[in-house]
Amino acid sequence: MRKKLLLGNWKMNKTPEEAASFARAASEMVDFAVSHNVDVGVAPTYVCLDAVKKAINPKCIVAAQNCSEHDHGAFTGEISIPMLRAIGIDWCIVGHSERRAYNGETSEACNAKIKALLAAGMTPVYCCGESLEAFEKGETKKFVAEQIRAGLKDLTPDEARKVIVAYEPIWAIGTGKSASTEIAEDTIGFVRRTLRELFGTAAVDMRILYGGSVKPDNVSAYIGAPDIDGALVGGASLDPVSFKGLIEGMLR
Ligand code: PGA
Repeated sequence: MRKKLLLGNWKMNKTPEEAASFARAASEMVDFAVSHNVDVGVAPTYVCLDAVKKAINPKCIVAAQNCSEHDHGAFTGEISIPMLRAIGIDWCIVGHSERRAYNGETSEACNAKIKALLAAGMTPVYCCGESLEAFEKGETKKFVAEQIRAGLKDLTPDEARKVIVAYEPIWAIGTGKSASTEIAEDTIGFVRRTLRELFGTAAVDMRILYGGSVKPDNVSAYIGAPDIDGALVGGASLDPVSFKGLIEGMLR
C-alpha cells in the first residue's frame, strides 16, 4: 500500500523568519496528517532549510529544491549533498520544470543527481511533465516517457523504489489551469506502466505525485485516482491555512 504524500514546493519564496513562522504554525497539522497516514513535507529555499528544519515538527519532511551531483569543488553557486546532509536534509526535488527551463537542466543531469542522492541515502523527487506545445500536439506520453527513461537510467529496481516521481504538466504550473483528473490519471497511469517496463514490480511500490495548480478544493479529486499517490504543490503550499486545507483535502 503506497502512503499518500503532500509536498509543498516553496520555490523562491519566504525569508528564513517567514519560513520559520510557517514551520511553527504547521506543527499540529503535521501531526494530524501523519496520524492519518499521510506523509507531509515542504521544500524551502536553501537559505531557509536550516531554520525550517529546526522549527518544524520533526515528523515533517524537509526537502531541498535542487542539489549538485558533485560533493565539493569549484562549482560557484551550487550546494552539495553532503552540505544538505550536514543540516539534516534527506529529501531533494530534482528536475523541476522551472530548473529545466531557466537553468538548462537536462534529464541526463537529473540522472547524475538522482544517482548521487541515492548513493547518499537520500530521497529524490524527480519531476517530469510536458510543455503546452507537446500537450497540444498529443505528444505528452512520448515526452514524459523520454524524461523518465533518461532521468532514471541505470537505476536498479531497489533504487527506483526509493524515488518519488512527480508528473507536472508545465501548462498547469502556476497558471490556475490544473489538468483534469482524467488527464492526470491517464498520464500517471502511463508513467507507472513505463516504470514497470523499466523496473518490473518495483513500479507498484513507487509513489507518483500530480502537480500543477493543486488547491485545497481540487486535491481530493486527484488523490481519489488509483495511480495518484499525492501532490506536489507550489502556490497553495505557501500559506499555513491553505496548507492545512490541502491536508484536509487529501483526507476527504
Ligand atoms: P503550482 O506549482 O502548484 O503553483 O502550480 C506546482 C509546482 O511547480 O510544483
